[in-house]
Amino acid sequence: MVCLGNICRSPLAEGILQHKAWQAGLQWSVESAGTGAYHTGEPPHRLSQKVAKLNGIDISKQSARQFVKEDFEMFDFIYVMDSSNYNDVRRISGKNWNENKVDLLLNEIFPGQNRAVPDPWFGAEPGFHEVFKMIDKACDMIIKKYANVKI
Ligand code: 4NP
Repeated sequence: MVCLGNICRSPLAEGILQHKAWQAGLQWSVESAGTGAYHTGEPPHRLSQKVAKLNGIDISKQSARQFVKEDFEMFDFIYVMDSSNYNDVRRISGKNWNENKVDLLLNEIFPGQNRAVPDPWFGAEPGFHEVFKMIDKACDMIIKKYANVKI
């Protein structure tokens, strides 16, 4: 799960998908990263933590890190929050780039529409709740898609 700062959107996406995968009995390893390094080592934004906690998910132990090209070898699939993340991931990954392993997260709900999970960084708490709902729905779709796959 990749966004810009790895403190608002992608930590929620990591927490939500990991939680749903555990609930579904899927042994997935879910991580998140940012295309920028500004917040490396920081915990998620306090409002991302708050909204997650209100929904029964603890993301407080996460620590921000930057996306690296080796993530293409480590992970089967990479979800980005918006098209600028998509372009940054393509740039960072260099020769490891594989367009079949990357998509915008909301394309799981609205296929091919390339809709963005809006960045709540500059806004107030309602924006974080809105983002939680979008990511939650997209993660339900991901789980449904793979629920019958043996891993
Ligand atoms: P995120 O939000 O990409 O959802 O983690 C942001 C967090 C920090 C900044 C930008 C976006 N920033 O410019 O520091």
